Amino acid sequence: MTDAKLSLAEKDFGYPVLSGSVGPDVIDIRKLYGQTGAFTYDPGFTSTASCQSKLTYIDGDEGVLLHRGYPIGELAEQSSFMEVAYLLLNGELPKGDELNKFESTITRHTMVHEQLATFFRGFRRDAHPMAILCGVVGALSAFYHDSTDIHDPTQRTIASHRLIAKMPTIAAMAYKYSVGQPFQYPDNSLSYTGNFLKMTFGVPAEPYEVNPAVEKAMDRIFILHADHEQNASTSTVRLAGSSGANPFACIAAGIACLWGPAHGGANEAALNMLQEIGTPDRIPEFINRAKDKNDPFRLMGFGHRVYKNYDPRATVMQKTVREVFEALNVSDPLFETALRLEELALSDDYFIEKKLFPNVDFYSGVILSAIGFPTSMFTVLFALARTVGWVAQWNEMITDPDQKIGRPRQLYTGPTARPYVSLDER
Ligand code: CMC
Repeated sequence: MTDAKLSLAEKDFGYPVLSGSVGPDVIDIRKLYGQTGAFTYDPGFTSTASCQSKLTYIDGDEGVLLHRGYPIGELAEQSSFMEVAYLLLNGELPKGDELNKFESTITRHTMVHEQLATFFRGFRRDAHPMAILCGVVGALSAFYHDSTDIHDPTQRTIASHRLIAKMPTIAAMAYKYSVGQPFQYPDNSLSYTGNFLKMTFGVPAEPYEVNPAVEKAMDRIFILHADHEQNASTSTVRLAGSSGANPFACIAAGIACLWGPAHGGANEAALNMLQEIGTPDRIPEFINRAKDKNDPFRLMGFGHRVYKNYDPRATVMQKTVREVFEALNVSDPLFETALRLEELALSDDYFIEKKLFPNVDFYSGVILSAIGFPTSMFTVLFALARTVGWVAQWNEMITDPDQKIGRPRQLYTGPTARPYVSLDER
């Protein structure tokens, strides 16, 4: 193990350099403050590894994303969301009987406490479904007390299964509530994704047939969103969990963070942007706005903190758009606008120099609206899928012997100590 040397106030210090299985080395500065009395300063954690993890690896320069070592493209093409969920939670791909058992366990947790239905009625009909999701998932801790002891591995597993299983039910209920249709109970004869489609689009008045092509595309979209290393919402889940908070509260915190337009809210924002652009002839105007330092507008679905190359999830997503259009025999001029926008942006010096490429959110909105989801549901679907990653990361954190409560420090720039001034003297 080599040391990183630091000279500070004419003294020399050494810090161990740790190597992961792949990826950049990490300077272990845990003793830095104790030895030097100084902190590091890293807003946005651009140079900080907050934990060690065996789950997901990203090489942003090469555009690589691996879950437990398996490339995302191979998982999206050949696996299923349930298999990826098992992989993320347990570390290995399941054997046939393990997958059957896992699917059956998840299926048997899909119903929610009947009283939760009344909880929904407290929301306005026009509430954003992410607001509903955040509230209802947080409320799960009030309904499932028997799986909130984070020190009990069995309870942790039950809570994890409950969250993965109930999220589609809650997401579909949020949708049904917003359109004024009755909630649909889960159908255990269907796949995880088929059941979600039925709970969302089915009505009691007529039978609902799951379209296998849509089911496959949706399942793939879930795989593409399952986990993504220490992103903002995952770090939020870990930070919330580091205090010992129960898993339902932690996932609700993750949902709140995901909602922002710089993160999971970008899929909704990207489709709104494509609609605003409308026709390809208006693209240059929007590209110019995105480049203008005085205009806060950004190309939504473009750029990424880690990827400085094409987001591998966007490649699969673009292919899936064509498959869904073919299966549903539809087309959408916005897809042509998106393709042209990508082409023009990728040949523009601003985007080339800053290495800004389409990310997972650029094409997902086009597919989701073709399937029939309103834009307000897009981030809900992201949250549904990301729950698997959040739960896996939360479990990993709880069992990490190095885990401590997350407590960053600061560079204080406010007033120094001064005497209180009474009201009549101010
Ligand atoms: N359009 C125009 N300029 C951009 C964009 C964009 N989409 N993204 C980054 N830039 C510019 C930015 O203005 C900055 O320029 P300068 O160096 O001259 O100040 C430079 O590129 C670096 O940007 P940054 O904001 O410092 O980079 P970051 O790593 O902090 O932000 C990001 C990453 C994803 C928040 C950002 O690229 C962005 O806002 N993109 C649009 C929103 C989006 O699509 N988000 C989804 C991310 S993928 C899904 C997810 O993880 O949730």
